Amino acid sequence: MAESMKGLKRTHRCTEVSNKNVGENVTVMGWVQKSRNKGGIIFVDLRDRSGLLQVIFEEDKCGAESFAKAEKLRSEFVVAITGEVALRAGGINKNLATGDIEIIAKDIRILSESETPPFPIEENSKTKEEIRLKYRTLDLRRPDLQRNLILRSKVVSIIRNFLAEEGFLEIETPILNKSTPEGARDYLVPSRVHPGSFYALPQSPQIFKQLLMASGYDRYYQVAKCFRDEDLRADRQPEFTQIDMELSFVDIDDVLDVNERLLARVFKEAIGVDVPLPIQRMTWAEAMERFGSDKPDIRFGMELKNVTDVVKGCGFGVFTGAIENGGSVRGINVKGQGAMPRKKIDALVDFAKGYGAKGLAYIAIGEDGSFKSSFAKFMTDEEMNNLVKALDGENGDLLLFAADRDKIVFSVLGALRCEMASQLELVSKDDYRFLWVTEFPVFEWSDEEERYQAMHHPFTMPMEEDIDLLDTDMGKARAKAYDIVLNGVELGGGSVRIHQDDIQEKMFKLLGISEEDANDRFGFMLTAFKYGVPPHAGLAFGLDRMIMLMTGAESIRDVIAFPKIKDASCLLSDAPSGVDKKQLEELCIEVKLPQE
Ligand code: AMO
Ligand code: AMP
Repeated sequence: MAESMKGLKRTHRCTEVSNKNVGENVTVMGWVQKSRNKGGIIFVDLRDRSGLLQVIFEEDKCGAESFAKAEKLRSEFVVAITGEVALRAGGINKNLATGDIEIIAKDIRILSESETPPFPIEENSKTKEEIRLKYRTLDLRRPDLQRNLILRSKVVSIIRNFLAEEGFLEIETPILNKSTPEGARDYLVPSRVHPGSFYALPQSPQIFKQLLMASGYDRYYQVAKCFRDEDLRADRQPEFTQIDMELSFVDIDDVLDVNERLLARVFKEAIGVDVPLPIQRMTWAEAMERFGSDKPDIRFGMELKNVTDVVKGCGFGVFTGAIENGGSVRGINVKGQGAMPRKKIDALVDFAKGYGAKGLAYIAIGEDGSFKSSFAKFMTDEEMNNLVKALDGENGDLLLFAADRDKIVFSVLGALRCEMASQLELVSKDDYRFLWVTEFPVFEWSDEEERYQAMHHPFTMPMEEDIDLLDTDMGKARAKAYDIVLNGVELGGGSVRIHQDDIQEKMFKLLGISEEDANDRFGFMLTAFKYGVPPHAGLAFGLDRMIMLMTGAESIRDVIAFPKIKDASCLLSDAPSGVDKKQLEELCIEVKLPQE
């Protein structure tokens, strides 16, 4: 039977006990990691969130009753043990923080028994993730997950302290909202009081934080839950957390300055990593040109080279065709991989096709300087040599080329570059390379919708020198928008906002949002801005991604206590689920499932 806490107080967490306490009586509480009965002496490894501690039961020291209880212990029983700290009689365990001591038990209470757990509670579990997520409570007992969540808590507290020092106010914004402008699909919540009307869960606090600036709060931040109904990937969750902020009376440099000091503080205090300041900045155009990505991993080179001019007029139709269609030909040099077997190259071609390529052309340069190539037969020797020279190709190198519209060429080579770096283990997880990407385009062409969309959101300020381009060549206009990138991951992003109503009106017009539509969706904000709004700017970090990179976790799920899986369901609680007929009736909702 489970015993109670009556009269008992924990004196230490397991690893708070040390050789300094030798001779003292302590009371520790936690879960039985392992219990071994060696006849006459029982060894128990006790675990709590701080770590493990060895306890020893001997009948002459703890008495018959306690010894009998100790004999019953199984993995994951919850116990309270009182005993005396002693130096270890057996050998020292160097792998344990408490490896030089043990507790000689005098008394034990079994606070709770446990069935045999479905998988062992251990670091680097080999158990399938589905099972672990179903029994997440047990999974969360594992030391690696506990370390991740403890670090997460520490990071948030460092951020709170830093932002308070910098004069930021923590203010909460609503969860039941009108739709926000972040551009993903909304999660909707039906209103009972207003049948047929719906709240949208916030994709971000964007509009409300801008309203707070209009209200004079000056510097705001929030640890904000955000909800986006989008396709999930390893670094995306349907609900995630932003460190969201907004500042008044500032321009870009002010925002970047306070945020890079924030990052430096967090990385130093939480994981002891020095972030050299200022963080490197690169324009979006340069990032695309050199790395084929707006979130380049700058831990390694392998930069893209534009060879359009070199192959212009060559005999290879794939190249010339792409150029004639307004596209380009670009390549990367994978150093020292000229001997890559054909099968592996074919796999790279398939990889490229996954990013929209029609194919991938290659030149493998042998150690003897000979070429193996998928398109040499269409080229003169001189053309081949020029191409190799353009990529600084040396004996033993592998050159990969994509020819297409710029957008596809960038996405293919940008992804290939990272894939090769990962295959060749060119990067280390402990190397933290931050980068600001600036001057994003204001608009982005959507093939799907066949119109321009806001690249960031419709409240993002164009660069002053590009305002005229809005009328003449909107696709070329650059925005006062910035992303913070860490090791090829977009950690956060933000922008200077539009606070002038003539520019805002123009933006809506260019985005094809009618006055009526704008008023319907954002009217409350437009009205608020009529009564005096300061220039303002802001940024939001993805907290989950930040912790993922700091811990080296493979998946965002490993840094979230109760995450969802790819189909946005929760294996622990089985959400989402059907609801009572009565609940639906109250909401005036009828469910019509699609016909299979
Ligand atoms: P943005 O949409 O770029 O900007 O989001 C900011 C950061 O949030 C993280 N993030 C996510 N993390 C996990 N799962 C997701 N589904 C997910 N989506 C985004 C990313 C991203 O960089 N309101 C603006 C910010 C601003 O302008 O101030 C915004 O939400 O790390
Ligand atoms: P093909 O003549 O279509 O067989 O193509 C010859 C070589 O060019 C093959 O290795 C293809 O993978 C490659 N290739 C085809 N389309 C492209 C493209 N758009 N960019 C780069 N290489 C391509």
